[in-house]
Amino acid sequence: MDRALVKPARLTGFAALRWAWRFALDPLSSTRRAFEAFGPCVVLAEGLPFVRPSRVATLGVPLVLTAGAPFYSELMSRPDTWRGVNVLPGGPRRSAARRMSSGLMRLTGEQHAHYRKLLASPLRRTRVEALVKDMARLAQTQTTSWPIGQTIDLWEHIRRLMQGFAVEFLFGGSSEQSRTVTELGCWIMERKWDWRAMVPINLPITPYGQIVRTAALLERHLLAWTAAKRGHPDEGDIAATIANSRDGAGNPVDDAGIVAQLPSLFGLSSEGGQSVVTWTLFLLMQHPAVAERLRDELRDKLGRGAPSLDRAGELPYLDAVVKEAMRVLPPVPFQFRVAQQDTTIAGENAPKGTRVVLNTFLTNRMPDLYPEGDVFRPERWFTIAPTAFEFPVFGAGPHICPGYWFDLTAVKIAVAAIMTRYTMNLPPSTRIDHSIQPTLRPRARLGVMLRRADEGMTPATPITGSIRDLVKLPQ
Ligand code: HEM
Repeated sequence: MDRALVKPARLTGFAALRWAWRFALDPLSSTRRAFEAFGPCVVLAEGLPFVRPSRVATLGVPLVLTAGAPFYSELMSRPDTWRGVNVLPGGPRRSAARRMSSGLMRLTGEQHAHYRKLLASPLRRTRVEALVKDMARLAQTQTTSWPIGQTIDLWEHIRRLMQGFAVEFLFGGSSEQSRTVTELGCWIMERKWDWRAMVPINLPITPYGQIVRTAALLERHLLAWTAAKRGHPDEGDIAATIANSRDGAGNPVDDAGIVAQLPSLFGLSSEGGQSVVTWTLFLLMQHPAVAERLRDELRDKLGRGAPSLDRAGELPYLDAVVKEAMRVLPPVPFQFRVAQQDTTIAGENAPKGTRVVLNTFLTNRMPDLYPEGDVFRPERWFTIAPTAFEFPVFGAGPHICPGYWFDLTAVKIAVAAIMTRYTMNLPPSTRIDHSIQPTLRPRARLGVMLRRADEGMTPATPITGSIRDLVKLPQ
């Protein structure tokens, strides 16, 4: 494979503004069109050359749209120069929203290493392997009561399941307090990515103002919850681990340290998995032959009747199905970087403040590694083994996701629990539009009809909506 960095195409003036506008309206389809027209690295610069420097990309500082392993490798390997952005919003000075906006993804150097080390214990592979029986039990309990013969909102049902995994196994178990802080953290994370929330008008009725107020509420609950965990270290509980940690100078972590780190972890720990399970089930509904083959594997290897879901992590076809779903509809389609100093990208100057949007969706479709990239074909995973830069669904480099082993296991157990119990259909005339917030999700309720698994798969329902721009469906 040619790993050379392609020279960036530079658009200025009206052309830069036009592409930036298209990107804001429909980020995935517009970048696909931009790359077809200009190649895999497009610099949108000097939209209004007289406005500079500006915090608004393309007006003052360039916005770079890019995809492909060489660019991921160049940027992700230089975290001190190209810093990540936080998943939670900032807010007015001295607000809780501002205090929450400096989580792990923004940290570099020793501070970053310090918090990565704290997360290593709850998320390590041996711990996850020891948890699989309990995870399987939770998946069985949570999914048994889904109503056969009725239409459910799939996205909401999967949310409860994946939040259940996170609260139970990463945040010290289910309690009213843990549920409240998780719900509030996820609520904020979802709304931050709505463009209306980016208009900084701080009133009770504006989306921005609602985030600021919810962040203040979350901060109060969070500090009460973690106060009870101080003095009770538990290496399987991320909140207790951080509440009982010491800062770089050896002093007990203060409230500011807790508020900076924990809220973004709530969203990070459940939303990615929620996206993967939802889109995997959607793709299986649209590809009944793949679903039948998967169900055969589940029955053969896990048993009929009461399947032993704890072995779901070992199944090759399930592994291929999940990876292929994450390739075609990546749960986090973009990763963002901001230049901390004047630097270069692919040999071209990039001034301090340059923002880069790395496109995982298109990286996952590079034709030399993934021919017919829009087609859902799990079998391709039997012959390929891409690097993290070629398949960056969990990121790459020093900021690679520390939760990937936990969630890969949780996702497989969830899919196996659902597929061994239910068959799902989309009702006729279903429309599915997508949005990115920052996970890939259905824009509206995703209604699916539940039947018993032994009724077998039925032909896929033809659907409409923007999801069809992202994946080639058989009908
Ligand atoms: C399918 C599920 C998941 C997906 C797709 C996913 C995806 C990602 C991606 C793409 C990044 C890198 C972002 C960047 O570099 O800009 C990341 C980072 C991160 N993820 Fe995940 N994630 C998942 C599950 C989890 C879980 C279960 C946790 C548990 C707490 C977690 C915690 C984190 C943290 C703390 C970071 C920041 C790491 C750092 O900056 O060093 N993620 N994740």
